[in-house]
Amino acid sequence: MHFQWYPGHMTKAKRQMQEDIKLIDLVIELVDARIPLSSRNPDIDDLGRQKARLILMNKADLANEEQNQAWASYFQEKGFFVVKLDARTKAGMKTISNVIMDACKEKIERDRKRGIKNRPVRAMVVGIPNVGKSTFINTYAGKACAKTGNKPGVTKGKQWIRLNKNVELLDTPGILWPKFEDQRVGLFLALVGSIKDEILNIDELSIELITILRENYPGLLAQRYEVLEEQTPAEILGEIAKNRNCVKKGGDLDYSKAASLVIDEFRNGRLGKITLEFPVE
Ligand code: G4P
Repeated sequence: MHFQWYPGHMTKAKRQMQEDIKLIDLVIELVDARIPLSSRNPDIDDLGRQKARLILMNKADLANEEQNQAWASYFQEKGFFVVKLDARTKAGMKTISNVIMDACKEKIERDRKRGIKNRPVRAMVVGIPNVGKSTFINTYAGKACAKTGNKPGVTKGKQWIRLNKNVELLDTPGILWPKFEDQRVGLFLALVGSIKDEILNIDELSIELITILRENYPGLLAQRYEVLEEQTPAEILGEIAKNRNCVKKGGDLDYSKAASLVIDEFRNGRLGKITLEFPVE
C-alpha cells in the first residue's frame, strides 16, 4: 500500500488517531527493523503518552541480528516493550501475547483493585504504510477470531477483534505519516520500498545503497557480485552491470538494469540480512 501524503491527510490521520487512542490501553507500534527510526513517526510518542507502549520490530528476518539486538536495547532503554518479529509467521505471536500482558500489568492491577475482573486489554496497531500492519493483524488475529463490538448498520462504532480472553484489537490500524522532510529518512524509506519507485531515481538510489553497504558491510558486494570494493560506487555499479550481463542493445552497459537488480536483491533479502540505520547514543 503506497500513500501520497498531503498536509490534509496528515491532519485527518492525526485526528482519527487521537480519537482511537482514547479507547485503548496499549499502542502496538510497528517499525521496520532495517530502519527502526526512519520508519517511525515520533508524533506517536505524544499521541500515545498516557498509554502502555509496545514496539514490534517487524521484518526482523531481513535485518542484521546483531543490530536487531542493539535496537531492541535502544527502545527498551527508552521505556518501550519490544518484540522482534516476522509478521508473516505465527512464531512470535505467543511471545507478543505475554508481552502485552506484561506491558499492561498496571492497568490490570488497577482494574483488580476496583473489583473489575477479566476486562480485556484493548490495543491498536499503528505504523507507517508498508511496515506490515495488515500482515500482523491477519497473522495474529487469524480468521478464527470473532469480531466483537457494534453490529454494522445498527450502531456505528468501532470493530474490535477478540484475540483471546485477555486482549481485544481495534480492527483498523492507525496509519502514521513518515517524516519525509528529512532527506536521509526519505532515502531509507525508498530503499526498503516504502516510496513508489516511479517517483525515484533508481540509479541514484543504488549508488546510495552501494555506499552504505561498502561502508557497513565490507566484503558483501565483493562476494555477491565479484567486484572490487576499492573504487567509486558508480564504478562498482558498472562492474556489477558487466558481471551480471546488464547490457543495452548497442553493447553499452545498462546501469539502470544493474541498479534495479541490486535494489531488488537487497529488498528481498538475497543480499543477506541488512540493517541500514544504526542506533546512536
Ligand atoms: P501495511 O498494512 O503496514 O501497509 O503493510 P502490509 O501488511 O501490507 O505489508 C507490506 C509488505 O511487507 C507485504 O509484502 C508483506 O508480505 C511484507 N511483510 C510484512 N511483514 C513482513 C515481515 O515480517 N517480513 C517480511 N520479509 N515481509 C513482511 P507484499 O504483499 O509482497 O507487498 P510488497 O512487498 O509488494 O510491498
